Amino acid sequence: MKSVILFSAALVFSAFTNSALSAEKTGAEIAQSCTMCHGENGLSKMPGTPSLAGQSEIYLVNQLRHFRDGQRQHEQMSVIAKPLTNADIDKVSAWFAQFEVELKKR
Ligand code: HEC
Repeated sequence: MKSVILFSAALVFSAFTNSALSAEKTGAEIAQSCTMCHGENGLSKMPGTPSLAGQSEIYLVNQLRHFRDGQRQHEQMSVIAKPLTNADIDKVSAWFAQFEVELKKR
C-alpha cells in the first residue's frame, strides 16, 4: 500500500514537473492536475480527500503554502505543492474558490 502511494506521488510529481509548473498556466489548467483526487471542479468523492470547491481563497492559499513550505505535512500534498510558485498557488486557489456549493441533506 505504502509503495502504491509513493508510486502515485512520484507519478503526480513527474506530471507536475512537466505541466503545472509553468508560470504560463492558468488556474483552470493547474486545477486539472488536482481533480483526479479532489474531484471534478474540486468536489471530492474520494474519502480522505477534502473538497476544494467553494473553499475560501485565503484558506486554500495558506494550506498550499503550508504544504509547500513544510508547516503542514502530507505524503502526497507535500510533494504536489513543492513545485508550485506563489503565482500558481494564487491562481489555482482563486479558481477553486470561484464556485458556490449548495448544501442538501443526504
Ligand atoms: C494524489 C491525490 C491528490 C492530488 C493530485 C492533489 N491532492 Fe490536494 N489533497 C490530497 C489529500 C489526500 C489531501 C488531504 C491531506 C490531509 O489529510 O492532510 C489534500 C489536501 C489538500 C488541501 C487542503 C484542504 C483542506 O481543507 O485542508 C488543499 C488546499 C489541496 N489539497 C490542494 C490541492 C491542489 C491545488 C492540487 C493540484 C495542484 C491538489 N491538491 C492535488 C490529495 C491530492
